Amino acid sequence: MMNLQFSRHRRLRHTETLRRMVKETSLHVDDFIYPIFVAEGDNIKNPIASMPGVFQFSLDHLGEELDEVVRLGIPSVILFGIPHEKDAIGSQAFHDHGIVQEAIRFAKDRHPDLMVIADTCLCEYTDHGHCGVIENGKVLNDPTLDLLARTAVAQAKAGADIIAPSNMMDGFVAAIRYGLDEAGYEHIPIMSYAVKYASAYYGPFRDAANSTPQFGDRKTYQMDPANRLEAMREAASDVEEGADFLIVKPALSYLDIVRDVKNNFVLPLVAYNVSGEYAMIKAAAANGWIDEERIVLETLTSMKRAGADLIMTYHAKDAAKWLGGAK
Ligand code: PBG
Ligand code: ZN
Repeated sequence: MMNLQFSRHRRLRHTETLRRMVKETSLHVDDFIYPIFVAEGDNIKNPIASMPGVFQFSLDHLGEELDEVVRLGIPSVILFGIPHEKDAIGSQAFHDHGIVQEAIRFAKDRHPDLMVIADTCLCEYTDHGHCGVIENGKVLNDPTLDLLARTAVAQAKAGADIIAPSNMMDGFVAAIRYGLDEAGYEHIPIMSYAVKYASAYYGPFRDAANSTPQFGDRKTYQMDPANRLEAMREAASDVEEGADFLIVKPALSYLDIVRDVKNNFVLPLVAYNVSGEYAMIKAAAANGWIDEERIVLETLTSMKRAGADLIMTYHAKDAAKWLGGAK
């Protein structure tokens, strides 16, 4: 036999234990943030057709869901609201008794140690479904900032632990930071959807949150999926404005951006594994075409490998079960 000189990478793959020792990326239940949809009303537990396993809950059913999340060891949830009434400026977003404010109070009362994140946007509350104030068919930037700041303050007042603005108006982190500080919430962190693309992957979410725009699209405020440098500009401005966490969204088709943001900024980084990514896996799994557990764990691992510190994911409960609480 010739004495060939070549690298034997397989040496480190011989046994399960050895593979564990050289594993570079691990998934842990502490990485997960679970999104929950809360609806105004009674006795609501509506399944979302395009998101099997995900429901809209009224407050009288929210407890069961939160208990399960806590039992599984998931440290955090992000709440989205489905109000009864919508209007042009999304008043229910910042009303002290708006559905998300009520849900925050309920969640913090039931599980004080659970980190409750409030998504701060207007699209679920506006009758036109856009994320800001409309004039002559255009989404206005600066008049929207004031409403966002009011929403964040109402959420903080209700007990939200973290404010997560998602509406992509310029200056939203600064406006919210100023609003929170003025109201005495300078200790509340902002988890900014700094890099958010105008994506078809949000389709199922808009079914779940009844937030489809009634005209046009979100391309004048969300980013063009073709752009990479623009993501660095978005992240840089949010860092300057005082963001405490940065979110990249969607995740799966944007793992290059996750890595870029990780390499260029030092804030904790969150990848949002969005509704359409979840729907694709659930649909293929339901058909028996893929192994759901392996696909989900591989997908979430790839997000961490790309640089995410945390993952917002509808798979969080399943993944927590599969991981069995162990690293
Ligand atoms: C609201 C918001 C959206 C998502 C999170 N916050 C929808 C949108 O921008 O249209 C999408 C989440 C998902 O698809 O899972 N601005
Ligand atoms: Zn929005």
